[in-house]
Amino acid sequence: MKHFNIAVIAGDGIGPEVIAEGKKVFSGIAEMDGGFSVSFEDFPWGCEYYLKTGEMMPTDGLDILKPFDAIYLGAVGYPGVPDHVSLGGLLLQIRRGFDEYINLRPVRLLKGAPCPLANVLPDDINMIVVRENSEGEYANVGAHLYPGTEREMALQTGVFSRHGCERVIRYAYELARLEKRSLTSISKGNALRYSMVFWDEIFAEIGREYPDVETHSLLVDAASMFFVKDPGRFEIVVTSNLFGDILTDLGAAIAGGMGLAAGANLNPERKYPSMFEPIHGSAPDIAGQETANPLASIWSISQMLEFLHEQEWAERILSAIETLLVERRTLTPDLGGSAKTSEIGAAILEILER
Ligand SMILES: NC(=O)c1ccc[n+]([C@@H]2O[C@H](COP(=O)([O-])OP(=O)(O)OC[C@H]3O[C@@H](n4cnc5c(N)ncnc54)[C@H](O)[C@@H]3O)[C@@H](O)[C@H]2O)c1
Repeated sequence: MKHFNIAVIAGDGIGPEVIAEGKKVFSGIAEMDGGFSVSFEDFPWGCEYYLKTGEMMPTDGLDILKPFDAIYLGAVGYPGVPDHVSLGGLLLQIRRGFDEYINLRPVRLLKGAPCPLANVLPDDINMIVVRENSEGEYANVGAHLYPGTEREMALQTGVFSRHGCERVIRYAYELARLEKRSLTSISKGNALRYSMVFWDEIFAEIGREYPDVETHSLLVDAASMFFVKDPGRFEIVVTSNLFGDILTDLGAAIAGGMGLAAGANLNPERKYPSMFEPIHGSAPDIAGQETANPLASIWSISQMLEFLHEQEWAERILSAIETLLVERRTLTPDLGGSAKTSEIGAAILEILER
């Protein structure tokens, strides 16, 4: 029997609350399927751990995580620890250390999910954003010089290597070809005349190998406008680390809210474990209240199962989420319901069992 060994970093704030529901769903599915089993190992890393030890995770954290089939992450960050410390000390370490250079973020309006846009139907919002996840503006290259003097300055450098751009752009072309959908590259070549012009050139260059893929190129400012005015024009989207981060929050806002947005950090070669997480943060404003929506975390389990070659379960989880949204019986307050976070996993399993 196949066995999946999953490392769990529930993290801070609402992280543990939402992750508990995803674990319930995965365990329940393993029982229903009978053809595979799953075990979870929990790691107490995050801001509390930092306050005790001075580190977000142990120095050998990556060695500890490496043997697992996948990593399931809640959220990191909490008042009391600077955000650049919490993000840089854990999430970015894992993404970079495990060469998870693809961040796949579906922006899909499920039936029954709220949408703030007028006259939009679920079919109108259905895209996959392929975000570069290892370099770009988040490459951790820069300096803070002459602090406390009148010459003080900060430099933050974006890193766009040929290797880094080519591999993410090629991945997006392959996905577009496989799914027979158009591909839109989002950049900013008019203002960022080195990095983004380079990106645009590579996008055009690789495109010559994919004459069957319909392509579009947009500047990020225009793309943001179209996300709101005409989201139906986007099918597969490829973009840089920073732009992808921002655009997918906008994507979450038009497709059901932060409680419904999932993301997969993939190392496509499977040399290292990939990491699956809701894209929202630790939401300190609602932590501990049992009101957080765990559907994004459960959607991340769907992404994880897809990556673990359990495609059918991946799809069934998504349609169970959709049924939950349409039936409106067990929803958290952000979706207009009064259910507790801890009731959602069981509700999804009940739908899957029907
Ligand atoms: N991947 C990550 O771990 C990640 C991502 C973003 C932010 N953060 C960190 O999280 C902390 C809070 O950041 P923020 O407030 O900017 O973003 P956030 O995503 O935590 O919250 C933004 C808003 O969305 C709401 N929200 C988020 N997730 C929700 C859910 N599942 N159900 C219902 N409502 C939800 C919150 O209540 C809040 O009002 C910071 O420390 C930040 O650095 C972590």
